[in-house]
Amino acid sequence: MRVLELFSGLGGWRWALRGRGRVVAAYDVSEAANATYALNHGDLPKARELAAVALSELAMPGADTWLMSPPCQPFCRMGNHQGLEDPRSRAFRHLMDLFRQAPPERLVLENVAGFLGSDAHGLLSECLRFHGMHQMDLQACPSHFGLPNLRPRVFIVASRKPLKALPPLDLPQRPLAGFLDAVEDEGLYLRSEAHTRHHQGLDLVEPGDHRSACFIGGYGRRFVGSGSFLKTARGIRRFSPSEVARLLGLPEAFRFPDTLSLEVRYRLLGNGLSIPVAAWALDHL
Ligand SMILES: C[S@@+](CC[C@H](N)C(=O)[O-])C[C@H]1O[C@@H](n2cnc3c(N)ncnc32)[C@H](O)[C@@H]1O
Repeated sequence: MRVLELFSGLGGWRWALRGRGRVVAAYDVSEAANATYALNHGDLPKARELAAVALSELAMPGADTWLMSPPCQPFCRMGNHQGLEDPRSRAFRHLMDLFRQAPPERLVLENVAGFLGSDAHGLLSECLRFHGMHQMDLQACPSHFGLPNLRPRVFIVASRKPLKALPPLDLPQRPLAGFLDAVEDEGLYLRSEAHTRHHQGLDLVEPGDHRSACFIGGYGRRFVGSGSFLKTARGIRRFSPSEVARLLGLPEAFRFPDTLSLEVRYRLLGNGLSIPVAAWALDHL
């Protein structure tokens, strides 16, 4: 596969490929995401606004596969549910126009569960039908892939060739203890005021537990509904970015540029892909 990685973020799709293909171009407007991508993958994505990218530019590297994770806020449980009307869907709409003119051999899209049945899902399905492509709509969560983390996601997998139906996985979740840093960052412990103020709403887990909540981009700023907090003998703390990265299945060597703040690191991870789940979606091609 020669892959265009669209809305590339940290480059989750590139890890999920696991040698099945090569990313020939990646696109993202975020400077922080692109710096992290370059540090880990060696190539700098194009910092282009995808709502205005020309078909000739996308066609240039000769890609046959589009892997994409468009912004999920228009389809999120906590979002505005405006779907295609949301300005953050402009790039997706533009890409669907380009797809209609010159479709690749394969396309895989990842998004939140609210994407299923949305107007954007309808538009994508219509474009795939127009070109006679096979389509599978999959739903999966890393908690079924041995990871103690909830991150239910939808994958729309499409190809000109017939797709492979695979049985759903149901591996037992490993305990959180195996995902924790060897040396704790003491700065992650909550001060007593924060602890007292938010105690009721915090999702608390312990190292022996086999689950954690979905970590969202606001984990660095918000307490309630943004992910789990770890209870240890010393108190209550946030999971570190490297612990969240391990729970997403990112490689142990994954790292951020030193210049990125803690808040930005959590934001990028909160947008990220669960690698084993995305790799499983690609197995259907
Ligand atoms: C859901 S995240 C994708 C995460 C990615 N799959 C990963 O593995 O980290 C969406 C990404 O799209 C980028 N983005 C959003 N709107 C964009 C646009 N109009 N053009 C280019 N990139 C955009 C954001 O900066 C963000 O990094």
